[in-house]
Amino acid sequence: MPDDVPTKPVLLTGASGALGRVLARSLGAAGWRLRLTDIAPFPDRLPDGATFTAADLGDGVALLRLAEGCGAILHFGGVSVERPFEEILGPNLRGLYHVYEAARRERARVVFASSNHAVGFHERSETIDASDPLLPDGYYGLSKAYGELMGRMYWMKHGVESVFVRIGSCLPEPVNARMLASYLSFADLTRLVTRAVLAERVGAGVVWGASDNQAMTWWRDDDRVTIGWAPRDSADPFAAQLKDRRSDDPVEERYMGGAFCAIGYSRPDGPA
Ligand SMILES: NC(=O)c1ccc[n+]([C@@H]2O[C@H](COP(=O)([O-])OP(=O)(O)OC[C@H]3O[C@@H](n4cnc5c(N)ncnc54)[C@H](O)[C@@H]3O)[C@@H](O)[C@H]2O)c1
Repeated sequence: MPDDVPTKPVLLTGASGALGRVLARSLGAAGWRLRLTDIAPFPDRLPDGATFTAADLGDGVALLRLAEGCGAILHFGGVSVERPFEEILGPNLRGLYHVYEAARRERARVVFASSNHAVGFHERSETIDASDPLLPDGYYGLSKAYGELMGRMYWMKHGVESVFVRIGSCLPEPVNARMLASYLSFADLTRLVTRAVLAERVGAGVVWGASDNQAMTWWRDDDRVTIGWAPRDSADPFAAQLKDRRSDDPVEERYMGGAFCAIGYSRPDGPA
């Protein structure tokens, strides 16, 4: 088996979503044995060596079965935008618990699709370390912060390893000025996830999920060296075209989380 293929199968949740489809294609093409799952049907041709099983993250028994014999779980399923608390609760909190219970039973590593929205209320003028306080910008970001804390608990208590990837903006290309900082290319994501699975020992590590963007002055000091990853792509070629594409909302423009910070914002005295 080539060096960049895990010896055991890998479970991918959220396989039918935007990033799940990217990873299914790229990791499948690299020869990984993937078990894909999502509540929605998988819309693409199944990669060689992959299976797809429809399941709700709320179904803990289904997740235990799906994870059987897996060496890693790439957890990309769940609500991926800001929504009311009750909508986030099932998929992102209870579902996450089911993922971690499956990982505990299999002694599998979890690669968790965390988010910049777990630290969204840090100001863009700051430069923060991976160990700086979580500062979620809504119920969605809060669910990502909770996920990272759950992963830490499973590491301390059960020795389940995790890599928390705090994804910035992972799209085909950046589309506004904020993403000149937060953009993560699909290829950089694939290489990051590959290293997160294959690295020898990761403990409970955090990696900022952004490409090599000149405007990315917000984030530093994470566990990328431990997993052996460095971004190769960059949003910089889009700088001239996007630098003025900003909103006129002072909350959105002040904080790292951008538009999510402004959703339902009601602080009477304005930004802190
Ligand atoms: N795309 C980005 O820029 C970005 C940025 C930060 C974090 N993330 C995180 O990365 C992950 C993937 O993002 P995406 O852009 O592909 O999102 P997406 O919404 O396209 O995909 C999420 C998938 O989860 C599935 N899902 C939702 N509820 C489910 C349930 N109850 N049971 C089973 N499956 C369920 C959906 O059907 C969907 O296919 C998400 O966790 C998201 O929060 C993405």
